[in-house]
Formats: sequence, C-alpha cells, structure tokens
Amino acid sequence: MSNSPAEFTIQRPVFERSGAVRWVVSHATQHWGIIIMLLIGAFGNAALAAVVPLLVGDAFNAMLKPVADTSVLLPLALLIGGTQILRGVLQLGRNFGAELLGQRLEREIRDEMYISLLGKSMTFHSLQPVGDTMARATNDVREVNLMFSPGINLVIGSFFFIIMPILAAPRYHPALLVTPVAFAIVYFLALVRYLKTLEPISDEVRASFGEMNSHLSESLDGVETVKGAAQENAEVEKFIVNAARVRDAFIRQGDTEARFIAFLLYGIAIAAGLTHALILFRMGLLNTGQVIGYFGLLRMLDFPTFTSTWAYTQVSMGLSSARRILELMNRENNLDQNTAGDAGAMRGEIEFRNVGFGYPDGSTVLENVSFRVKPGRTVAIVGQTGAGKTSLVKLVNRTYDVSNGKILVDGVDVRDWNLAALRSQISMIEQDIFLFSRSISDNIAFGRPGATRAQVEAAAQAAQAHEFIETFDQGYDTVIGERGVTLSGGQRQRLALARAFLTDPRVLILDDSTSAIDSATEDKIQRAISAAAQGRTTLLITHRLSQIRWADLIIVIRKGKVAAMGNHEELMKTSEAYARIFRE
Ligand code: CTP
Ligand code: MG
Repeated sequence: MSNSPAEFTIQRPVFERSGAVRWVVSHATQHWGIIIMLLIGAFGNAALAAVVPLLVGDAFNAMLKPVADTSVLLPLALLIGGTQILRGVLQLGRNFGAELLGQRLEREIRDEMYISLLGKSMTFHSLQPVGDTMARATNDVREVNLMFSPGINLVIGSFFFIIMPILAAPRYHPALLVTPVAFAIVYFLALVRYLKTLEPISDEVRASFGEMNSHLSESLDGVETVKGAAQENAEVEKFIVNAARVRDAFIRQGDTEARFIAFLLYGIAIAAGLTHALILFRMGLLNTGQVIGYFGLLRMLDFPTFTSTWAYTQVSMGLSSARRILELMNRENNLDQNTAGDAGAMRGEIEFRNVGFGYPDGSTVLENVSFRVKPGRTVAIVGQTGAGKTSLVKLVNRTYDVSNGKILVDGVDVRDWNLAALRSQISMIEQDIFLFSRSISDNIAFGRPGATRAQVEAAAQAAQAHEFIETFDQGYDTVIGERGVTLSGGQRQRLALARAFLTDPRVLILDDSTSAIDSATEDKIQRAISAAAQGRTTLLITHRLSQIRWADLIIVIRKGKVAAMGNHEELMKTSEAYARIFRE
C-alpha cells in the first residue's frame, strides 16, 4: 500500500473566517512586532514633519525682531536637518514594516488557500471554474498584499498627518483648532460615504476580472477544440466583451475616485485657515512667525488629501479580494475525511447494495445497483456512452458519495473508512488521464514519492512503458508538457498503469472506455492491463471484447441500471443486450 499522506490532513492555525475584515485582522495580528514598528514609524514621521513649519515660524520671528537675531538661524537649520534625517529613518521603518506585513500575509493567505483548495471535495472542484480559482489564488491574494503596502501604510500615515495640526495648532492659539478639526470631521464623513460607494464597484472590478480569467483559461485549455472548430473569432469576440466589462468597472472606479471631494476640502481648509489666522493677526493675537508656522501646519493636510484618492481604493479592493478568497474557502465542503475511520489493510472485497446516485445539479444517474466482487477478481463494466459507468466507479473511492444505498469494501461502508486509507489502497486510472508537467519518473512515482529509480523502471517495465520511455533523449527525466500533451493516448495510459504498479493498490479501477489505438499498442496495453489485474480486485470499464471475455464478472449497465450480470458464457445465453455487443 502507498504511504503517501493525503494533502488535506495538514493542520494549520485556524484564522477567523466569519468576515473579510476580521479575517484580515486575524492574519495581521499574528505580526504585532511589525504593526508596532509601522505605527511608531508613521507617528514619528508625521511628528517630525510638523517640526519643520514650527521651526520655520520661529526663525521668522527671530528675523523680524526689531534687531534681527541671525544667531538662531544656524542652530535652527541644523535642527531641521537632523530631524529630517531621523524622519527618513522612521519613514523607512514605516514603509519597510508595511511591505513586510503585506508580503508575509500574502504568503500565509496563499498557504491557507492552497490547503483549503486541496481539501475540497470533487463536487466542489467540478462546479468551480479553474480560471476563477486561479484569479483568486493569484490576483486577489496579491490585492490583499497591496492593501497593506501601500494601502494601509498610507492610510495610517495620513491619519497621523491629520492629527498633527490638531496637536500643534493650540501652541499658537486655541481658536486655531477650528480649521483642522473641521477638516478632520468632514474628511472622515466623506470617506465613509466614499468607501460605501466604492464597495460594490470594487466587488464588480474583482468579479469581472475573475470571469474574464476563467473564460480565458477555458479557451486556452480547449484551444485544440477551438481551433478544430475554427471558432477563434467567436472566442475572441467573447473575450472582448469580458475585457470590456473589466474596463468599464475600472472606469467606474476611476470616476468615483475623481469625485472624492478631498481636494476641494483641502483647498477650503487652506483658505479658511489662513483667513482665520490673519484675522487673529489683525487682532494682535498672533505674530507673523506664528501665522507662517500655522500655515505650514495646514499644508501638512495635502499628504492625506493626495493619498486619499488611491490609498482607500487600494483598501477597498483588498477587502473585496479578501471577501472573494474567503467565499471560496468557506464554500460548503461536505467531504468528511473521517480520520477516525477504519484504516486497516484492505483485502479488496467490494459490494454495492442498492446504490443510487445523482450529481448535485442533475437527475438520477444510477439506480438500484447491486453486485459483489470477491478479492482479487476482475469485473468488466460495459454499457453505452452516458450509461453511468464512470460515475459508478467513482463512488468506490468516494470521489462522489452515493445518494442511496451503500458501498462496502471488506464489509465496511466506504463512508466508515478513513478516507486517506481508502483512497491510498484504491488506484484509479481515469478515462481522461492527467499527467503533471514534471519528469516521466516523477509522474510514475506520483503516488509514492520516495520510490527509487529501479522501482520506477520495474513498474514501467510491467506496464509495457519502458520501451517507449527509452526512446526519448532524456529517458525517465524527460519533462512532459502540461497535461501530458507530448504523449499519445496509449503512452499516457501505460504511464498511468506504471503509476498503479508502483503504488501496488488492493483495488485497481481502470476507465478505459474511449481509447482507440493501433493493434500493436493495443496488444501491449492488453498485456499491461492483465498484468496489473493480477492479484488485485480490478474494476475495468472497457469496450475491448477480449478483455470483457476473460473477466470473472461482467456487468452490463443500461441507463443507470444493471441490465445483465454474469460471466461471458452465461450472458451470451441469457442477455440479448450483451449478445448484441458481440454481434456488432
Ligand atoms: N454526468 C453529470 N455530471 C458529471 C458527470 C456526468 O451530470 N460531472 C452525467 C452525464 O450527463 C451522464 C451521466 O451522468 O448522463 C453518466 O455519465 P458517466 O458515468 O460519465 O457515463 P459513462 O457511462 O462513463 O459514459 P462514457 O462511456 O461516455 O464514458
Ligand atoms: Mg465514462
């Protein structure tokens, strides 16, 4: 039996997944050290930025004395220089902290998502388009990173720049608080409204992007079909429509950004603040240096104004992305791993008891299927296309779960087996064989990563694959193209058989219904399959008459029901449907 661990048993700290904000916060708070560095950097940066106008104001006052006091100028200049160098260091801390936080979260979220995706049931994966998943796993995860750096970095930076004039203005006159406080209030109110308007638009931007991606990946996946049917233009047309949707969403976002009133607000604050200061000056409550210092303080508001148009968009986009990632991870996952279940060695007895099955979104596919196979026997499953053969065998290793009745392996309901133990002792060679874009030897050893080269070669020999592998320049180290496209159907099938030989499962399931190959290869495959069937329970879906003939039990499936069952001789006598297969 294979000892490869099932990927989905990996345990990780569980983050709060009840809402996007909480989820992001639960990730961020894993890194308090970085957050504190970011906050200190941001506060220090703003405080030292405020020092400049204050010192300049003082310098003016020294110069405007009846007898100008130039002796203060040099120390002031040095002080400004020194504080600004320190400010640079703090700014670095802030930016570095935000970048570090963003990158770490990106990595963690990616891990969390990958683990979650591998743990999902086939029902989930067969309904979820790969392109959309890819968009979420790449771009949306990236958006969450950008939300921290530059997004939240600048939001926190701006916050302290808004606070500084409020802290420093009373130094000149308490009444001067009016302008910066009013600015802060209106700014935050406008911001709340802005974010609310932006939310559905950001969602639309992310969603339309995901859709464009899933369509693109589908037409690239099926590019052979697209070209074969000369449908390139139609596909391009569809892509253009999708791309236009993405563009429109982005434009709507830009439009909303452009309407944000921050700049207007800033202009008003500068004008109102200056007027106020001049009135106080006329009344003799302020002197020239103080007016200049205050004006400099107000000028600090241009940083939050400038960054606000895009920093908050970044945050909004990040939250939309976080929602999409969460939605995918939280989507119902009805796969029960049953780690406490039966994990013993399998003998290989299989029994179907009144099994009924339907796909979640479709009608009934199988009805009342019952049969029993002793360990080590071979069962041939035959029937017309769409009869339900593939669906039937996929129930054995719980790729899907039965809707009615039950399936017993060694007398134990498959749902009572430990899922990893069940699957690692059942090898399934699918109708549509998937190979990874890795070397041939890695592909063969997929179910048993520790296998030596000698073991891999022995498996390939048994599967009649050694010969053709040797014809490649790099032999077993040849990297096959994505989805195994550089190999023929017959070659792929033999690699899959070699994979099965290596894991040495108790139960082998071979879905061989659509392969059509030349007779020389056919002969090799025939031999490989009968070798593979030796000593293990084998469920064989096939159209090859010679294979059907030597099966211990033949099950004829018709429209999801067992139409006939028995060995070749019996069926030739009793079943018209079966006899018809051989007459054709
Ligand atoms: N089906 C479905 N959803 C899937 C797979 C199949 O609704 N994800 C439906 C098909 O439309 C079909 C029925 O289930 O009507 C049986 O499909 P399958 O078991 O794949 O049929 P096979 O007998 O394996 O057909 P073939 O010989 O063509 O492989
Ligand atoms: Mg099939």
